[in-house]
Amino acid sequence: MPGNELFGAEERKEIMEVLETGIFFRYNHDEPRKGIWKSRQLEQELAHITGAEHAHMVSSGSTAIATALAVSGLGAGDEVIVPPFTYVATVEAVLLLGAIPVFAEIDETLCLSPEGILKAMTPKTRGIALVHMCGSMARMDEIMEICARHNLILVEDAAQALGTTYKGRHAGTFGHAGSFSFDFFKIITAAEGGAVITNNSAIYDAAAQYSDHGHDHIGNNRGMEQHPIIGFNYRISELHAAIALGQIRKVPRMLEIQRANKAQLVSALKVIPQVSFRHFPDPDGDAATFLDFFLPTEADARSIAGKLAANGLAVNYWYDNMYHYLRNWDHVQQLKSPNKLHIHTTGHPGYANYNLPQSDALIGRLISIGIRLSWTAEDIVRMQQTLAQVISAHFAPTHA
Ligand SMILES: Cc1ncc(COP(=O)(O)O)c(C=O)c1O
Repeated sequence: MPGNELFGAEERKEIMEVLETGIFFRYNHDEPRKGIWKSRQLEQELAHITGAEHAHMVSSGSTAIATALAVSGLGAGDEVIVPPFTYVATVEAVLLLGAIPVFAEIDETLCLSPEGILKAMTPKTRGIALVHMCGSMARMDEIMEICARHNLILVEDAAQALGTTYKGRHAGTFGHAGSFSFDFFKIITAAEGGAVITNNSAIYDAAAQYSDHGHDHIGNNRGMEQHPIIGFNYRISELHAAIALGQIRKVPRMLEIQRANKAQLVSALKVIPQVSFRHFPDPDGDAATFLDFFLPTEADARSIAGKLAANGLAVNYWYDNMYHYLRNWDHVQQLKSPNKLHIHTTGHPGYANYNLPQSDALIGRLISIGIRLSWTAEDIVRMQQTLAQVISAHFAPTHA
């Protein structure tokens, strides 16, 4: 990760084909586009590699999760359980629906825990926005059982989980719908882009309509199309789809490199008794985009993250990072919005007093290293040495 490291001739060829026709719009224009349909082709290839019956491209991972939630039947006033460890887009998408995000605890999988979901449920709970963080999945069997028992709508934010599977089944295919991001930092990139996948043809039709002002896409005269539903413009352009088409064919190679690179770093950490690892409900399905490990205490993790960075090893200490954890999202905690959100009208107090001690404790002790595709053998040896030296020195007994 990320795919932008492998950008090359394949992507340029796909882009050039679009530039030669000059048709950047994904629909219609049948004649001048001369058979070039990059978004459609990408959708077919994404459906193929995920095993989903349908895939629909949109403009970003944010619009993909917003679309997936809306077309799965969630809406105003519904409580939707979300994790505090995600990218804020998941929470924004729930708010955009007029629904109410309810934060629940994660566990050592770094995803929502079945116990956390059950504890967060109220009579108003209608769905779960389950995020497969950092390339691996939650305890899916138990979560699927909870959804079936309580009749909950499951939507999977698989923005970070292309190539991730659980017992052979691809992320995003467990719930009503799943979403992916193809932004510049993801496993494959479209520059900006995203996708919704589903096995339900009514949900697929609704996703295609919702992300294009409700157009039904029947016939070849856009001005005469019907509008079965209200929607927005969340369309992808042919240029963005072309980039991702060049990338998607590299996914098997990317996964192979990521897994090999990660395994070598893991081997350096395994011998350090104070280090423990994220739990993988299905280790074979890890896309290996990140190496996630825990230290005994928050103080150890913060100090070691600082020392690793000072020694040239790029690490993420999410607990202090502004991007991925509720603790640092003042705007969400205080429901700061330029307009009046539906949630404001419910008298909701906001999330400043959130109480998720298990998640705080886990994220406070967590360090993540993003696995890169371009590392050389020497880079990896250097990182192995840095990890071993810095962490062992941190725990070495001090002598008076
Ligand atoms: C879990 C998650 N959901 C949604 C998104 C949003 O994707 P995009 O940047 O394509 O809008 C991201 C991007 O970081 C993400 O990590």
